[in-house]
Amino acid sequence: MIEITGPYIMQGGVKIQGDKSISHRSVIISAISGKKVRIENFLFSQDCINTINLIKKLGININRENDLLVVEGKRIGDLKEPDDVLFVGNSGTTIRLVAGLLSAAPFMSILTGDPSINKRPMKRIIKPLNRMGARVYGRDGNTKAPLVIIGEKRLKALKHNITVASAQVKSSLILASLFSDGKTEINQPAVSRDHTERMLEYFEAGIRYDGRKTIITPEKIIKGKDIFVPNDISSAAYFIVAALILRNSRVILKDIGINPTRSYFLDVLREMGGKISIKNKRVRNNEEIADIECQTSNLQAVKIGSEKIPNIIDEIPILAVAAAYAKGVTEITGAHELRYKESDRLNSITQEFDKAGIEVKEKPDGLVIKGDNHLKLKDTTFDSHMDHRIAMSLIVLSLPSEAQVMISDTECIKTSFPDFIQILYSVLKKERT
Ligand code: S3P
Repeated sequence: MIEITGPYIMQGGVKIQGDKSISHRSVIISAISGKKVRIENFLFSQDCINTINLIKKLGININRENDLLVVEGKRIGDLKEPDDVLFVGNSGTTIRLVAGLLSAAPFMSILTGDPSINKRPMKRIIKPLNRMGARVYGRDGNTKAPLVIIGEKRLKALKHNITVASAQVKSSLILASLFSDGKTEINQPAVSRDHTERMLEYFEAGIRYDGRKTIITPEKIIKGKDIFVPNDISSAAYFIVAALILRNSRVILKDIGINPTRSYFLDVLREMGGKISIKNKRVRNNEEIADIECQTSNLQAVKIGSEKIPNIIDEIPILAVAAAYAKGVTEITGAHELRYKESDRLNSITQEFDKAGIEVKEKPDGLVIKGDNHLKLKDTTFDSHMDHRIAMSLIVLSLPSEAQVMISDTECIKTSFPDFIQILYSVLKKERT
């Protein structure tokens, strides 16, 4: 339980933690890279620790050496059949990416997670992985985890037209297709994050990608190389929105990953009137990085439509907070996928905003939020719905307010941003009223 009574101001420099998506991939892909890979700025959050523990059970040595995480990569054929069930905890990225990899490992493995993971949709990977020749089974008519996987050494190269724009589904198929018998083509309905493609390209795999299409030709053997994990733009988003909605505030965030498939929410915030500048752009291991500076802004409502939703999929809860403090009515559409995250995020946001006295309407695929630059919250106890992104968004929502706010079940924050509270308080000061 966290208690917040504002108003606060935010000032200073913030060191965000490493990117969650890239951290998962750095361990999973290095495990089959045949080389010792040193990973700098790895995110030791609960989700990523679950990935490390799981990959270790496949016979891969992974150790911390000073500030580095060191993965002693092998080849897929050298992975060992796990002698126990593999536990992914709350992590959708772990279960879906590892399922792709294990589809090409010729032994049986069982993947399970916490109650939230075991409710989330898995047919989207079970079906195409079976088409490729692996034997993948799931609970509830082959739609949910736990998953049983019996891998096949040489999978079939196919053309996949996936119906949801999901980087997890795409990455699962990319990893499996590295061990297929020819050219694989994956087409998505919209562009999703491309960290898997970028990392494999950096490791010299036969991969080409452009927007919605990815092509994998498995004749090249991947070569492990050292990785620097940029700081997580989705975690930075909480600080960026806080600085925009709090009075007299200004923060600078260093070394943030600004991969174009992840940074669209900055465009949305700018369209809302957010004062955000991006400085010192550079590239490290195929990922763009920059410093982001932002300050108090007078936000206006905005309309957010479907095509770009995959590029702000994790930032919609915090964008809803920005909308609550923006003048006018914000409409978000085409975001039905949000119902399948760690919680049903459209419903979680609606329930909690409603408690605080914010006018919000839940639509089947989106939200309508009536904002106010001078919003005053009611005294309330928020529920995180055991969802890290909802918990952090509700904390930011409470910072400008004099109301007495409690947020319950905040321990879920450790899944993606274990030091969030400590880092947040290092840049907050109570505003003198
Ligand atoms: C992720 C992809 C997204 C995102 C999740 C991380 C990834 O999920 O919501 O937090 O690392 O690939 P989907 O690709 O299923 O939308």
